[in-house]
Amino acid sequence: MSLPRACVMNILAELRSRFEPVLSEWTDDPSSVIEMLKASQDAKFGDYQANFAMPLAARIPDLKPRDLATQIVEKVDLSDFCEPLEVAGPGFINIRLKQDWLNTQTQNLVRDERLGVIPAESPQKVVVDFSAPNVAKPMHVGHLRSTVIGDANYRVLKFLGHDVVGDNHIGDWGTQFGMIIFGYKHFLNEAAFAEAPVTELARLYRLVNQLSDYHATQTKIPRQQAEIEQLAEKLKTRESSADLTNKKVQKEIKKLKSDLGERKSELQEMQEKQALLEQNEDLHSKAVSFPDIARQAREETARLHAGDADNLALWKQFLPQCLDAIQTVYDRLDIHFDMSLGESYYNPMLADVVSDLKARGLAEESQGAICVFIEGFKSPFMIQKQDGAFTYATTDLATIKYRVEELKADRVLYVVDSRQSEHFQLLFATVKEWGYSNLELQHVSFGSVLGENKRPLKTRAGDNVGLESLLDESIQRAYAIIAENDDVKPEGPELSEDKRQEIAKIIGLGGIKYADLKHNRDSDYMFDWDKMLSYHGDTATYMQYAYARVCGIFRKGQIDRIALRDQQVSLNLVDASERALALQINRYSEILESVAIEARPNYLTNYLFELAKIFSTFFNDCPVLKAETEQVKTSRLLLCDLTARTVEHGLSLLGIKTCERM
Ligand code: ARG
Repeated sequence: MSLPRACVMNILAELRSRFEPVLSEWTDDPSSVIEMLKASQDAKFGDYQANFAMPLAARIPDLKPRDLATQIVEKVDLSDFCEPLEVAGPGFINIRLKQDWLNTQTQNLVRDERLGVIPAESPQKVVVDFSAPNVAKPMHVGHLRSTVIGDANYRVLKFLGHDVVGDNHIGDWGTQFGMIIFGYKHFLNEAAFAEAPVTELARLYRLVNQLSDYHATQTKIPRQQAEIEQLAEKLKTRESSADLTNKKVQKEIKKLKSDLGERKSELQEMQEKQALLEQNEDLHSKAVSFPDIARQAREETARLHAGDADNLALWKQFLPQCLDAIQTVYDRLDIHFDMSLGESYYNPMLADVVSDLKARGLAEESQGAICVFIEGFKSPFMIQKQDGAFTYATTDLATIKYRVEELKADRVLYVVDSRQSEHFQLLFATVKEWGYSNLELQHVSFGSVLGENKRPLKTRAGDNVGLESLLDESIQRAYAIIAENDDVKPEGPELSEDKRQEIAKIIGLGGIKYADLKHNRDSDYMFDWDKMLSYHGDTATYMQYAYARVCGIFRKGQIDRIALRDQQVSLNLVDASERALALQINRYSEILESVAIEARPNYLTNYLFELAKIFSTFFNDCPVLKAETEQVKTSRLLLCDLTARTVEHGLSLLGIKTCERM
């Protein structure tokens, strides 16, 4: 049951909306400083703290920040839910919620199935463009981030009441099809194809890729060697320099050494890869027979795009098989899309896009290609190549037109890795000039998944790590951990074999997703099995464990959680850790809103981690089942229930499941 709106509140938004009009007395643009009102880092300074008096006073002659803070405090009325405001230090404003109010507010959450989260006042139509693998090759670890980050944003926006369309913009029309078509024509194992088509196609893709990579690397190696020689030469000169004590020279030497080391390990990687291929007689002889394989594969793609009947027929045959294969991964990860319009869908619209942009004077010919030139950018946005082929850019433009005109989108999120950031800057700038200026476009960019060597995660053979095998391994490892834990339980093992397997899936998949989501998405992160599945620290396992622990309390006390919520017992937050827990639970709504604005699921993981820690403190400080009175016991049980619900719900928005025992 949802309660009437007035009973729940996004506290941060409310505080900001009370302060903002008051600030306009000292600035024309209060919105530029209002974000300096935040949850406070330390309970000593209240529940929330506002630091804007400092920058505001700096702009006004003869006004001390502390005096300004005092004047602001006199004008803002928060008496309905806060204690009198306090000015501290040079001009901090400390805000503390009234105890009674927090009690009532928390009480309201007990029976609110939305946990206090208010649906958006003006819902938007939001397209979340995520996952978008180039099919015809198996999904690998590189596809994890877009899929998981996109899904979390999708779920949060939807829960906040937006009209969200999850669109998998599948790469189903690119060069990889030329590669499998070429592979099919020259290297097909018919029996294998009849038996397991997708596996055979994946083998063909890998084979053609390996062969063309072999030739590319063959030309790269001497270049790399030359670079290494140059660097070594430079290093020698520096090292024989007269002033080795000079800081600058030392720094240069250090940098040169590290560059040299990096180049050398790259070279070694290349040479190992080449040697591996050369050891394989069959592969090596194929490489020798097809020295021009990269170009030949490109030509197959060009023939496909030109409508060549044979290639088109092969494409039509392969595509559903490729889609089935990626669907298996989505099913395992519990990822759903509202539509999957691949790049090929937009193919018929591309010519019109180019002529429209030309007609409006936005695109022009440049060295035989058609380009949009945007001020401030070094490279142009190429929408048609010299040979007449349309590009990734043209497809993205057609996609935007479709999303605005057919889907009526207000906002589009592109969950794509940071290497494409220039593409999106050019795309967004072009779109503004094209006339879709009301559309909100956001590149939700992210860094790479690195291996222990701090380089993109690869298998020993230098291939991308397959997503399926990654999931398998995580589940296996989770199983081992669960079994080990269960075997040493004081009252003996609790879990059946089936249960262990079910929990292993939940923990294993949750661990992978959470490890990805918890990082600031802009940065790279290092893949680390041990950290990822640990019962301690910032992991899904820790949160899932907090959830199971609460379930355990209710089991042990034989208390029905649902019935408990209907009891007319009033919550009473006495202990400091009870209050801290209640406050954190009440902040759920403001956190989700911040996730939605910046498309940053790590705000939610941070929040949940904090919540689980605060819960731990509460649990150590405050006996629940053995509380001093029945009334205190019920009040604490309600807090436990709210914590568990918030953890469960928060994790579910991250696409992570929970289990009642583990
Ligand atoms: N298939 C592309 C790739 O793997 C990503 C597509 C992202 N979405 C988009 N509308 N460009 O690089």
